[in-house]
This record gives sequence, C-alpha cells and structure tokens, in this order.
Amino acid sequence: MPSVYFQTFGCQMNSADSDTIHELLSRRGFVLTDSCGGSDLIVVNTCSVREAAEKRAKGKIAEFARGKKSRPGQKLWVVGCMAERLGDSLKEQIPGVDLVVGAKQMERIDEVIEEQFPQSQYDTGASPMIFGKTAVTDFVPVMRGCDNYCAYCVVPYVRGREQSVPYDIIESTVKEKIAAGIKEITFLGQNVNSYNHGGIDFPALLSKMSNIDGLERIRFTTSHPKDCTEKLIDVMASSKKFASHIHLPVQAGADRILSLMNRKYTSSHYRNLLDMIRTRIPHADITSDILVGFPTETDAEFRETLSLVRAARFTTAFMFAYSPREGTAAASMKEEISKEEKNARLTELIALQTEITREIYENSVGRELEVLITGRQEKRDKAWMGQDAGCKKVLISCEPAEPGMILNVKATRSSGMTLIV
Ligand code: SAH
Ligand code: SF4
Ligand code: F3S
Repeated sequence: MPSVYFQTFGCQMNSADSDTIHELLSRRGFVLTDSCGGSDLIVVNTCSVREAAEKRAKGKIAEFARGKKSRPGQKLWVVGCMAERLGDSLKEQIPGVDLVVGAKQMERIDEVIEEQFPQSQYDTGASPMIFGKTAVTDFVPVMRGCDNYCAYCVVPYVRGREQSVPYDIIESTVKEKIAAGIKEITFLGQNVNSYNHGGIDFPALLSKMSNIDGLERIRFTTSHPKDCTEKLIDVMASSKKFASHIHLPVQAGADRILSLMNRKYTSSHYRNLLDMIRTRIPHADITSDILVGFPTETDAEFRETLSLVRAARFTTAFMFAYSPREGTAAASMKEEISKEEKNARLTELIALQTEITREIYENSVGRELEVLITGRQEKRDKAWMGQDAGCKKVLISCEPAEPGMILNVKATRSSGMTLIV
C-alpha cells in the first residue's frame, strides 16, 4: 500500500485540515507513516502568520526536496496558508515540489486528490476513525476564514472570508466521532464566536451540542473579545460539559495600539469581560495571545500591556514579537520598532507571564480536579496524561485508568506547567 508522511505547521485549523487530507488519502488506500524517507508522498501543511513560520516551513520543504532526489517516485505536496500566499512560485523557489494546494482550496481537496490519483478506489463505507486514530479528543471546524482584518494579520488574506458550516454537518460529524470513541471536542474557527448559519449563532450551537449524549467535554477556540457576549458566557456556565477555559487573545494593553490594530475593543472592555467570566465560571482558565512591538508602540504603551497581564492573570499566553506581513495594513506603517527593542519587550513579558503561570499552577494544588485521561505518559510506567476541566495538563500515577475516563483527583504538587497527582 502507498504511504503518506505529514509535517504540519501552524494552528489547530491546520491540524484539522491535515486530518481531513489524511482521511481522504486513507480512503484511497494510503497508510500513515512516521518515516519521511520511506514514504511515497510527503504533505507539508504550512503557516504564514509570522515570517519565522514561513522560514521554518521553507527549510523543511527544501530538506524534503533534497531527500526526494534519492527516492524515485516520491511526491512532495505543499498545502495550507503559505501555499495559498505564495502559490506555484513555491515550485520555482524549491524545485522538487510537485503540487501546491492553497488553504482556500481545502473546500475542494477531495477533487484535487482525485485528480492526482484517478486510478485509486474510494472507500466510502468506513468510519474516518478506523484509520489509525485512537484519540479521545478531536477538533471539529465550525467556521473558516476571517473578516476581521486585524492590521497585523495575514489570515483573512490566506483563509478568505468567513464561512460557517451548516448545523446538520456539524451534528453528524460530532456523532460520528463520538461513535468512534471521542469524548471531548474542540470546535474550531479563526473567529469562532461569529459562527452563524441558518439562524443558529454560536451560543445556540454550543447549547445544542451540550445535549448530545456521549459528548463529555466541549471546548472551542479562538474567541474574539469583541464577539464574546454575555449570552456565550451564560451558555458556558450552564453545563458542566463545557470546559472552564476560554482562549481570549487580548494582543495589547494600550487603547491607542488596540485601535491601530483594528481590534474594536478597549482595554477596559476586555477587563470587564474577564470579571464577567470569573464571576460566572469559578476557577476559569483564561488564556491569551499577546503581540509586542506593533509599529509605533511606545515603551509606556508596552508597560500598559504588562499591567493588563498582571491584572488578567492568564493561565498561559502565547506571546509574539510583531512581524510585518506583506499586504496587511500594518506592513505599510513606517515606524517600526527595532528588532532588539521588540525582543527586549518580549523577554520582559514572557518573564512576567511565566511567573503568573507558575503561581496559578501552584494554587491549583490540593483543589478537586476533574481530569479527562488522554493517554499514557510514555516515559513512566503506570502514569497517565490528562487535562483538567480548564486547560491544565495533569500527570496521574496513582490508580489504574484508561483513555477517555474522567477522574476526580487532587494534585499533590506542580512541576512547571504540569499538575502531579
Ligand atoms: N484567529 C485568532 C488567531 C490568529 S493568529 C485570533 O483572532 O486571535 C494567532 C496569533 O498570532 C494572533 O493572536 C497574534 O497574536 C499572532 N500574530 C498574528 N499576526 C502576527 C504578526 N504579523 N506578527 C506577530 N504575531 C502575529
Ligand atoms: Fe487574524 Fe484578527 Fe482574524 Fe484573528 S481575528 S485571524 S488576529 S484578522
Ligand atoms: Fe497559520 Fe494559517 Fe493558522 S497562517 S495560524 S496556519 S490559519
């Protein structure tokens, strides 16, 4: 049987897309391999969000292209967001690339695969989950694209306009996954709160999902603060099936910068949202994305980001130095912050957030946790990995368990970003 090797960069949407491509190839007889050298096909799923992400992807593609020379017949496909941004020019930049499929073509990926392998038989019967997946947690995209045009961000250009998935498709996908043993689903969208299809908005979608038998835990990402409504928070608080976690990227603490970024909320609106979430959902984990060194950001404005972070007490945050992306509004702003200054700000921010993360983990020791067991801890005998109802990783080494079980436990200590039972 032919084999396929995947290398996936970027966000969860890219992971979900790689899973879709994997499923479609499996239905045509491909098996997954973890050896790029021995595979008949290599699929590299790329990200464009920062220059470093593109550099990393290009480095990997060039490495695969070199390896291909000694492997007659091996094919190299580049898919995803960088494939969308650079298109067929990638074939000239990196000879050896056989096919480029941009993120906007994911809608017709089935046809693309059919065109490439017209002789292959398509297996319609089997459940997608029989193709070598034993996970208890999975992603379901509910909307794609983004209409927000944050000034720094390339995503609306490479992913296109917002499109919500019809409710019936979401429901049948979820039920299919539950039948295959999935206990927890993370609903995905670049801007998931703006889901709307046939009069069903995002809070309504979540309510309906919480009534599906067998779905034990529900997560979603990413929420935009401007669309995070009281109604959404009420739905989250209405059932224990909803994880007590929300990823709510703030990006910056100063209102002038938020406005230049086109984020459409103020720092005080954001702080009020956090208060509302914490009042309704005790022990909620709130996580964030923060960007430093946006053009014209002053040192004083950066300090406003630090004070927001001090007040917000995020469980964790992804923190980035601004990287200009061609074609975005911010790329034409002249007053760039120097690389050294951006890195110094990032280092200071990371040090502050790391300390807050450590404290939050320590404060969770001794508290009752509901942990979904996700799998074995490879290195340790009789140890299990899991996640609490928030977003914290938990290592359990006491009792017999199996993936998919939810255990009520108390952590005895914390180590870095893991709670230990
Ligand atoms: N849809 C999500 C995330 C998009 S990209 C959202 O709206 O929050 C993930 C994160 O990458 C962003 O939240 C932002 O913090 C960061 N990012 C986006 N563009 C960037 C750029 N040009 N330079 C540095 N970081 C960037
Ligand atoms: Fe990018 Fe903003 Fe859309 Fe998120 S909401 S994907 S940061 S444009
Ligand atoms: Fe990257 Fe595309 Fe996701 S640019 S962050 S992989 S939507």
